[in-house]
Amino acid sequence: MSTPQPQVKTPQVKTSNAALPQINTSLPGPEARRVLELDRTYVSPSYTRDYPLVAKRGRGVIVEDVDGNTFMDFAAGIAVVSTGHCHPEVVRAIQEQAATLIHMSGTDFYYPSLAELAERLASIAPGKEAKRVYFGNSGAEAVEAAIKLAKYHTKRDKLVAFHGAFHGRTMGALSLTASRAIQRKGFGTLLSGVFHTPFPDTYRGSYAIRPEFATADCLSYLENELFRRRVDPDEVAAIFIEPIQGEGGYLPAPADFLRGLRDICDKYGILLVADEVQCGMGRTGKWWAVEHAGIEPDIICTAKGIASGMPLGAIIARASVMDWKAGAHASTFGGNPVCIAAANATMDLLESEYIANAARMGEFIMGRLADWRERHKIVGDVRGRGLMIGIEIVRDQKTKEKGPDLRNRLVQAAFEKGLLVLGSGDTTLRLMPPLIVNEEQADFAIRTLDECLTRIERSI
Ligand SMILES: Cc1ncc(COP(=O)(O)O)c(C=O)c1O
Repeated sequence: MSTPQPQVKTPQVKTSNAALPQINTSLPGPEARRVLELDRTYVSPSYTRDYPLVAKRGRGVIVEDVDGNTFMDFAAGIAVVSTGHCHPEVVRAIQEQAATLIHMSGTDFYYPSLAELAERLASIAPGKEAKRVYFGNSGAEAVEAAIKLAKYHTKRDKLVAFHGAFHGRTMGALSLTASRAIQRKGFGTLLSGVFHTPFPDTYRGSYAIRPEFATADCLSYLENELFRRRVDPDEVAAIFIEPIQGEGGYLPAPADFLRGLRDICDKYGILLVADEVQCGMGRTGKWWAVEHAGIEPDIICTAKGIASGMPLGAIIARASVMDWKAGAHASTFGGNPVCIAAANATMDLLESEYIANAARMGEFIMGRLADWRERHKIVGDVRGRGLMIGIEIVRDQKTKEKGPDLRNRLVQAAFEKGLLVLGSGDTTLRLMPPLIVNEEQADFAIRTLDECLTRIERSI
């Protein structure tokens, strides 16, 4: 059978990747207002839109809205478009695959790219032991798969996750999530047997946890409090952790905390699951955030940046852990050929230049933000790794009183100046541009935020 050759068209975007944003209308513009009205009438009201960006097309780090305004995208579709919007090589891979085989279902049939991507993901997971890969369609599905696999393999049914964690919104993943009460409110009983323990927040600490002793206090709480009074560790299947909390405020877990957690898991035969849905796939300057701590999780969850915007999620588990039998778990669409083609193209690009760029540009941005605590009275903390950077906004640097209203004003003011950023946690602004970002673009984002901060500070 001869395969028809697709006509490869790269999208026409008026702006070049190097161009800086231009706002030509009031925001939202007239066409955006029409879409917003339609959306208000027909689309689920559960979505949380911080500002009225109505996107039409994107190229690189630039997004154009339906009224012809252009924006610098430091949100990347929530850390998804790792190679930028519509990278020509990703677009080409998608178009070629779409003209060849769109769907087959890896649960019932075979196709080479599914096995080949599994081999590739297995090869980049930390640790010498062989790995196996399960494919789903999203971060939440990856977490669901990890929950089920951990219970199946260990024959234990309790799970531990962290305060502030975000693992997704399906009922299993939501049971691990402890980010905002609104995410759980109204949904009744979630999974039983899930226990939450403090995350080491080295800036703020949390209730009984002192920031300067966060690692020791949090490890001690887990072992000496949770495991003694609330759940016997022999019943715990897995501990789920985001090595850098994403929705919880861009909080990196200290390396010695992650190593301590690995030791506790080994001591009690508990699986360590690293949810790298947001912090993985090169965003921190290495394939996986856990690599910075030198630890080997038993299961890694990945999604978001893996396929530059096509829906794909996966778990990568030690082969001896992924021992479930045929029929135990599957998904019709998981590992769709078009998504896999996008993932392969994405990984080629990340490997050849963009992971290194994430490391370099992360240092560049952190260098530029190094004196922001001195220069801006509402900046409490700047933290992160690679292109996963959080700026915590406070009302008072000494008391660390949170400034969620100020953070929200900052996000809004940045939008009005053509910079797309999102909040995270109660009072943090996060920078998560595509991994292709360059110095000129980062400079625009930094200057814009600098100006917006100054304006807000003058007004309070
Ligand atoms: C760490 C983490 N895990 C899981 C998820 C859920 O991913 P998805 O929205 O693709 O279901 C998210 C989404 O933000 C995340 O940040």
